[in-house]
Amino acid sequence: MENQTHSVPRIGEKAPAFTASTTQGPIRFPDDFKGKWVLLFSHPADFTPVCTSEFMTFGAMSRDFERLGCQLIGLSVDSLSSHLAWLHTIRERIEFNGMKNVDVRFPLIDDVSMHVATLYGMIHPGESGTKAVRAVFFIDPDAVIRAIIYYPLALGRNFDELRRVLVGLQTIDRFHVSLPADWRPGDEVVVPSPGTMDALDRQEEHPADGVTCHDWFFCTRKLTEEEQQEMAIG
Ligand code: BEZ
Repeated sequence: MENQTHSVPRIGEKAPAFTASTTQGPIRFPDDFKGKWVLLFSHPADFTPVCTSEFMTFGAMSRDFERLGCQLIGLSVDSLSSHLAWLHTIRERIEFNGMKNVDVRFPLIDDVSMHVATLYGMIHPGESGTKAVRAVFFIDPDAVIRAIIYYPLALGRNFDELRRVLVGLQTIDRFHVSLPADWRPGDEVVVPSPGTMDALDRQEEHPADGVTCHDWFFCTRKLTEEEQQEMAIG
């Protein structure tokens, strides 16, 4: 077979477009998801334990992601009928971690052809040549890739972290701030550093109300109640 090379999409680049058949019908990405955040994620295979635990967790959290304006889209190198049978089994038979009757209603892509998995660099041959690793692409409402996380086959994802990254990206965009190590919704955010000597002097002598400076280039503030409510976080 001819050796095909693909550049893997990176942070800051437009998310590659594709069409696919899914458990919610055909989709055109990104056109069908204009104005929404999208978490496009892959899992290695249907009817496997770690993936089942993850799908139950994604399913249980899907309202929360919806509330955050975020569409979940899953993918594995399995057929549509396998996906349907697996999601049916999850809903009818599996109980895990206090979750049961989990009805997964976000699209799960049939990617038997590996078209989308290849386009997004989800196949890591050192791990498996036929199964996607656990990749997560955070894609913003302008279809730009904003964060990427990869996990290996045997390690289930941390869903608090997935939510934290999404809320973090939304907070960064809304308030033009950055977020320090281990930031969690409700914690202080980092305000932009001064860009001129005059601004540096002002910041050092009279930091703005509510701003704490550890040094002139490292100042933080708490989001106000209104700002936190606007983000529906905290
Ligand atoms: C799992 O989901 O349990 C799994 C899938 C592929 C390799 C290892 C574990």
